[in-house]
Amino acid sequence: MCGIAACILENDKAAPILLGCVKKLEYRGYDSVGIATLNSSIIVEKDEGKINDFEESLDLSKFQGRIGIGHVRWATHGPPTRENAHPHLDCDGKIAIVHNGIIENYMELKNELKSEGHNFASETDTEVIAHLIEKYKNRGHNLEEAVRRALIRLKGAYAIAVISSDEPDKIIGARKESPLIVAKGERGYFLASDIPAILDHARDVIFLDDNEMVIIDDTGARIKDLEGNIKKKEYKYIEWTPEMAEKGGYDYFMLKEIHEQPQVLRDTLREINTIQRVVDEIGEIKRICFVACGTSYHAAFVGKYLFESILHIPTDVIIASEFQYTANALDKETLTIFITQSGETADTLNALRAVNKKSKTLAIVNVLGSTATREADHVIYTRAGPEIGVAATKTYISQLACIYMLAAAIGRKTEIVKDLRKLPDEMEKILEKEELIKEIARTYKNKSDFLFIGRGFSYPTALEGALKLKEISYIHAEGYASGELKHGPIALIEKGVPVVAIAPPPLPLKTGAKIVKDEEEFRNSHSLTLSNVKEVKARGAEVIGLGAEDDEEFKKNTDKYISFNPSIREEISPLLYIIPLQLLAYHISVMKGEDPDHPRNLAKCVTVV
Ligand code: M6R
Repeated sequence: MCGIAACILENDKAAPILLGCVKKLEYRGYDSVGIATLNSSIIVEKDEGKINDFEESLDLSKFQGRIGIGHVRWATHGPPTRENAHPHLDCDGKIAIVHNGIIENYMELKNELKSEGHNFASETDTEVIAHLIEKYKNRGHNLEEAVRRALIRLKGAYAIAVISSDEPDKIIGARKESPLIVAKGERGYFLASDIPAILDHARDVIFLDDNEMVIIDDTGARIKDLEGNIKKKEYKYIEWTPEMAEKGGYDYFMLKEIHEQPQVLRDTLREINTIQRVVDEIGEIKRICFVACGTSYHAAFVGKYLFESILHIPTDVIIASEFQYTANALDKETLTIFITQSGETADTLNALRAVNKKSKTLAIVNVLGSTATREADHVIYTRAGPEIGVAATKTYISQLACIYMLAAAIGRKTEIVKDLRKLPDEMEKILEKEELIKEIARTYKNKSDFLFIGRGFSYPTALEGALKLKEISYIHAEGYASGELKHGPIALIEKGVPVVAIAPPPLPLKTGAKIVKDEEEFRNSHSLTLSNVKEVKARGAEVIGLGAEDDEEFKKNTDKYISFNPSIREEISPLLYIIPLQLLAYHISVMKGEDPDHPRNLAKCVTVV
C-alpha cells in the first residue's frame, strides 16, 4: 500500500533524511517512489521501480531546503509509471502533494477542473487534490484555507501532506480513513503514514483522527478540524525502538521476525493482567464473533476451536470482507472481536463500523493508536513490536497468545497460561531445526503444488502454512481439513505431490487441567489424520509430517518428519507447529530467488476494499 513521509526540519537539509524515512516504508509493498523538497521553489523526483534504484539515480545536491514530502505508491488509479508516481503538482508547480487512499469522486472533480482550464499530467485520483487546492488559492485563500476547502469537496479516503512555494515554511497534513501521524523530534517535525518511517528521528507522536488537519511551521504543530477549530491533542511516547525496525544481521526481515517469536511470546504473555481487566470491563459474553482477514483470520479460526471446545461459547469466525453479507444476528450479549495486526485493514474497519453498537466490540491489534484501536469499545495490544516483512509471522503468534489469554481470562482457566509459558523454550528448540527445514525446502522447492492438511486445532495451522507458502514463494498451495480430502482434493494427489500433514499428539488420558471436553474425540482427530496420511501416501504423495518425537506410527508413514516435544498437545500446538511452516515458506522463497519481504502484488497493510 502507499506510504507517506514528510518533514520540516530546523537546520538540516530535508532530502537525505526524507529519503531515509521513505526507505522505511518499503515494507508496505509499492511500485513507485518519489520525493519533493521546498526551498524558494519545489524540486520533484519520482519514478517507477525500487527505492534503491531511485536513490542511486538521484543527485541529492539539487534538493535544497529543510522541508520535504515523500511517497511510495501502490498503484490503484493508473498503472505504475513515472507520471503516476507521487508527489503530484498543480498547473504552476507551486503546490506538491502526496496522498494515500482513494478519492471516489475524482472523475467528477477532474472534469470540473479541466473545464476550468487545469491541465493534468497523470491518471491518478491524487492529482485532482493538487489542482483543487490551486483553484482555491487562485481565489485568494492562503494554503491552509485552500487545503481545507479542497478537503471538504473530497469523497473517499485520504492521508495527505502538502507543500507550497508560496508559503515556503509550512507543511499541511490531513487524514480521513487513512492513517497519518505527526511526530516531534530533536531535528524537527515529521508526518508519516506509519510509525517505522520516523523512528530514527522522533518517538513523540500524535495520531490524527478522521477529518483533522495539521499545520506545521516554525511555531510548531497545530491540529484543527475541517471547520477550522483548534483541537488539543497530546503526544504519546512510542516504545518501539529504531533497532526493532532494522534487520539486525538477518538477510531478511521475515527471517528476523520468525526468530523473534520466542521473545515476542514472552512479551505478549505479560499482558495477562491487562487482558483480565478488559474481560472484567466487557462483562457477560454469550456468543463470540471473530472478524479478520488473511493471517489474522487464521488466528481467529484457532479462536473458534478454543472458545467452543474449552469454554463452550458459541463462536463464529467471519472473513472481514464477507461480514456485511452474513452478520445480521448481533446483539448486546455478543462480543465481536476484530483481529488486525495493522489496525488499518479497510475490510476489517468496515466490518467494525458495520457493527454500529449492535454488539460489544474488542480489537486485538499490534499498532498503537491505529484506527481499530480508536473505534472499538475495548482494545488488547499484541505487543509484537513492528513487523516489517509483508508476510505476517510474529504478529500471528502474538495474536494467538492474546486469544488464548482471553479464553483463560473469560473461563478463569489459569492452566492455559501455564501451558503457554512452556512454549517459548519449545519454539527455540524448533528454530534450531532450521537446517532440516532448509533441506526439506531444497527437496521440494521446484514443486508446483502443495497440500497442507490437519484436523481440529491443526486445520487453521494448515491454512496458515499454505498461505505463507503461496504468498512469498508463488507456489500454489491449499490448506484442507484432512477429512475433506476424500470429498474432492484427493483427486489432485499423484506421484510426487508434497502433502504437509500436521498431527500433534492428542491430550494425555489423565490430564489434571481437564481443559478438553472429550479426550477420545481428540485422540480420534490424531488417528484420523494418520489414516488420511496413509491414503495420500498410497496414491504417491510425498508426506512431510509435523508431529511428536515419539509418534513412530506417524513417522514411518512420512518422507520427511519434523518432530516436536510430545508434551505439546493438540490444543496449544498452533503456536508452535506453525514455526517450521513459516521457515519452509521463507527458505523456498529465498532458494527460488524471490524476495520474501516484498512479495509481488501484496502490501503490508491493505487500506483499500
Ligand atoms: O493488518 P491485518 O492483520 O488486518 O492484515 C490482514 C491481512 O492483510 C494479512 O494478514 C495478510 O494476509 C498477510 N499478507 C499475511 O501474511
